[in-house]
Amino acid sequence: MGGGIAQVIAASGRRVSLHDEMPGAVDRALEAMERSLTKLAEKGGADPAQALARVSPVEGLVAADLMIEAVVEDAEVKKRLFRSADEVLPPEAILASNTSSIPITSLAAATSRPDQVIGMHFFNPVPVLQLVEVIRAVQTSDETAAAIVELAHHLGKVPAEARDFPGFVSNRILMPFINEAAYALMEGVAEPEAIDTIAKLGFAHPLGPLALADLIGLDTCVSIMEVLHEGLGNPKYAPCPLLRQYVSAGRLGRKSGRGFYEYG
Ligand code: CAA
Repeated sequence: MGGGIAQVIAASGRRVSLHDEMPGAVDRALEAMERSLTKLAEKGGADPAQALARVSPVEGLVAADLMIEAVVEDAEVKKRLFRSADEVLPPEAILASNTSSIPITSLAAATSRPDQVIGMHFFNPVPVLQLVEVIRAVQTSDETAAAIVELAHHLGKVPAEARDFPGFVSNRILMPFINEAAYALMEGVAEPEAIDTIAKLGFAHPLGPLALADLIGLDTCVSIMEVLHEGLGNPKYAPCPLLRQYVSAGRLGRKSGRGFYEYG
């Protein structure tokens, strides 16, 4: 998602630095950006070459007005990153997280500028989906929230504000839906194609829940269900055993070539 976020920021005319610890990830992101920008340019989007020229691959954290992190959904990894960002970025910079579910309040508490920490949650594919869920930590100032809402508008997105409760709004609704679809499959209620067809044609969803889980990543779905389960303390949020089993088998969805479905 980091590449998608960098893309929409660059397409809006801003300069963006992009870093990923995994070798080759930034190159792959740049290739995906080029393909996506080319498609969008046919519909009146930003000039691909000019937008790409505003993206600078960097090594590690660099000075900027805003950091948006999109690292793995692991609270400790994110806290470490926020501590480092607090040391490296200028004091007036805002530190934002694209987390799907890790409490923003705990990330804010890891820094010396908790009022300038906020959730800026994009949706996949970032260049296409309009929503940005803006999540205020307990400590987030009105100025920080206003700046991020304004930025979301400038990126051509529609911001919607939520408070910092487990799963915020988006994943509190979406993940139990996906989890229940996994239970329906595990219990033999229907085949994956039938489950997805029912959601697509019955509820006019662009993707069925199992295909959507493959897009999000089954490991991410399990992590988010664990946050809901632990944070809300209700057994109804326990991850479906089938989801866990697929993750332990390395069936993570599109990114690993196989999840509920196989990908070429
Ligand atoms: N960049 C640019 N354009 C893109 C694109 C991308 N990355 N991906 C798709 N498009 C364009 C296609 O080129 C196509 O354009 P045309 O209509 O002009 O041909 C259009 O979008 C539709 O794409 P497709 O025809 O390939 O397929 P589709 O109609 O199924 O749309 C989709 C694809 C937009 C991904 C759609 O299936 C969709 O909206 N799916 C649901 C996605 C969703 O729910 N995402 C949220 C996931 S949750 C999350 O991200 C956050 C979390 O916390 C877990």
